[in-house]
Amino acid sequence: MTGLSEVPHKARAVLDEIERAVVGKRDALTLVLSAILAGGHVLLEDFPGLGKTLAARSFAQTLGLEFRRAQFTPDLLPADLTGSFIYDQGKAEFEFRQGPLFTGLLLADEINRTPPKTQAALLEAMQERQVTVEGETFVLDPPFHVLATANPVEYEGTYPLPEAQLDRFLLRVGFGYPDSEEEWEVLRRRLERQREEQTLNRIVTKEELREIQAAVETVTVDPDIGRYCVALAAATRKHQHTLVGSSPRGGLALMLVARAYAVIAGRDFVVPEDVKAVAVPALAHRITIRPELWMTDISGRSVVETVLGQVPAPTARDRTGSAR
Ligand SMILES: Nc1ncnc2c1ncn2[C@@H]1O[C@H](COP(=O)(O)OP(=O)(O)O)[C@@H](O)[C@H]1O
Ligand SMILES: [Mg+2]
Repeated sequence: MTGLSEVPHKARAVLDEIERAVVGKRDALTLVLSAILAGGHVLLEDFPGLGKTLAARSFAQTLGLEFRRAQFTPDLLPADLTGSFIYDQGKAEFEFRQGPLFTGLLLADEINRTPPKTQAALLEAMQERQVTVEGETFVLDPPFHVLATANPVEYEGTYPLPEAQLDRFLLRVGFGYPDSEEEWEVLRRRLERQREEQTLNRIVTKEELREIQAAVETVTVDPDIGRYCVALAAATRKHQHTLVGSSPRGGLALMLVARAYAVIAGRDFVVPEDVKAVAVPALAHRITIRPELWMTDISGRSVVETVLGQVPAPTARDRTGSAR
């Protein structure tokens, strides 16, 4: 069994291994790993060519997960994801052929290029961890994680995800452009490798990943920290720039990701800094800004940043409960 005390070391080993492939994205990768350890799905929103596909593949390899990729084109149908019943001539019966949802880690690539019906099929599977095809239900065995990529909203020719569906992602993480040294490092490593593909070592098996996720679940969260998460989510609803703020699901996501983030940092208790570190990726995508502000710099991110400055954080306590 993988105990809680081994998790930080294993998490670091996973991130170090991924960094053999992905250059300079430690913070974003740590967030993605936090979401996976918390049992969730991640939306990677950024421009093409920033290493998102590479990162997804790297997570699958290091976490011992079967990897599948689905390209969300405008003509992708729900059955292309779930699978469908195919007639088997030999046996003279219908057989279920599994679609790409049946995997450990699914890279759902460019989900805002596909119409709402197919997006809904993905999001339902993420939420329910099962799919129903022609009245028959098939369970998606854990670990099952989706890393979805989306182009930034300003991008043309896309079907933006409705807020209700964005809410299903535990985190939304941006990669951002590398600085010029990092960008050169990407090129340099490619020359050194003398081939395109990169293969990483498996650091944990999928059974170990399940044990790690179970160990993270045993970490208790101080009620003050839980209430802080609630207060932050609620404050996004009252903000003057907000049309619709975070649902309670956002506060829950905030707490669960902060807990996994704390464990990766080597603690078995959550401090306000963990909550602050994950607040923007956990909450910003759940906030709808007033339409008259759409052409401005105001965004879900700016709302979360302001509420972080306004809502008083609880005093950090040590394990014995005394204020530090
Ligand atoms: N930060 C990075 N580290 C390593 N390689 C990168 C990075 N950013 C981009 N690349 C390289 O650029 C190419 C595009 O990356 P890819 O993962 O397909 O991007 P995306 O999925 O974001 O469009 C790949 O060859 C990848 O190896
Ligand atoms: Mg890609």
